[in-house]
Amino acid sequence: MEKEIRTIGVLTSGGDAPGMNAAIRAVVRTAIARGIKVKGIKKGYQGLLNEEIVDLEAKDVSDIIQRGGTILGTARCMEFKTKEGQQKGADICRKYGIDGIVVIGGDGSYRGAQALSRLGINTIGLPGTIDLDIACTDYTIGFDTAVNTAMQAIDKVKDTSSSHERCSIIEVMGRDAGYIALWCGIANGAEDILLPEKYDYNEQELINNIIRSRRLGKTHHIIINAEGIGHSVSMARRIEAATGIETRATILGYMQRGGEPSAKDRYYASIMGANAVDLLRNGKTNRVVGYKDGKFVDFDIEEALQMTKTVDEREFEISRLLSVMDEKER
Ligand code: ADP
Ligand code: F6P
Repeated sequence: MEKEIRTIGVLTSGGDAPGMNAAIRAVVRTAIARGIKVKGIKKGYQGLLNEEIVDLEAKDVSDIIQRGGTILGTARCMEFKTKEGQQKGADICRKYGIDGIVVIGGDGSYRGAQALSRLGINTIGLPGTIDLDIACTDYTIGFDTAVNTAMQAIDKVKDTSSSHERCSIIEVMGRDAGYIALWCGIANGAEDILLPEKYDYNEQELINNIIRSRRLGKTHHIIINAEGIGHSVSMARRIEAATGIETRATILGYMQRGGEPSAKDRYYASIMGANAVDLLRNGKTNRVVGYKDGKFVDFDIEEALQMTKTVDEREFEISRLLSVMDEKER
């Protein structure tokens, strides 16, 4: 017979993302509404191993839905990648009467959840990352806010770039994934986009494009560079030397990970948080919640981790098409 879930834990792990608080709130309030107790585990798996575990009541998640970051804190924890660390984590769950855990994070955090599930602690993962790089879902908590933050910042850089007739390289987050760069490339009308998934290191082509677009009358040239490619400052120096056009680099950095979550991030995080609790309540374990093809869904973690995702060719092509200029020299 399935064990009855009386107490669940919730933790946030890996990089924080706007909307994580909305997810925590939904987990706590749904569980309490279902007669399940909740314990907040601070600082991800590290906090679990350190037994930084607190009771969470409905009032403890009041007034957090609009706040960026995560009230539980987050961390990366090497010890949890070891068999001993995982066994210790499962033993601590038992010590605190935790029957199931909701883990909000990315692929790495799901592997930790999978380990706990194998050790008898029911686990459900929620996709929390600004990078949008989780294959089993079309949406990840935090992406919408982050991409809007980056877009607004890029608009501002574009204004001054046009005024000074400069070329600007703007580096956005995404160590392994270019989704923020692709979306900003289209939403900001950038002339060039450099994505880790697509980069062929052909800087000469980039330089030719800058010279050509200046010849055709563009007063600015915006290049969105994903963090995974990086080196924006040295790239700017080389481009300025090769084109004779003043070139500046702006690295947007961690501002993209903070700030108040968008309506979309609050809404989706709330639904996913509630779904995670109901999955646990129904005896499910080792699953991740996602949003695919217009529906909230859930997958086995193993299956989810085997899925792959890459930048859509057509969308990338469109980003190129939309920066085209009339072939008439200024
Ligand atoms: P994300 O969850 O955003 O992908 P990380 O890859 O940094 O972020 O993973 C977050 C944490 O999840 C790690 O610090 C570690 O504690 C845990 N984790 C990652 N990989 C594994 C693994 N293979 N086994 C167990 N735990 C893992
Ligand atoms: O949250 C995702 C992400 O922002 C990546 O784009 C980035 O590479 C990484 O986190 C950096 O995080 P940190 O500097 O905290 O390790």
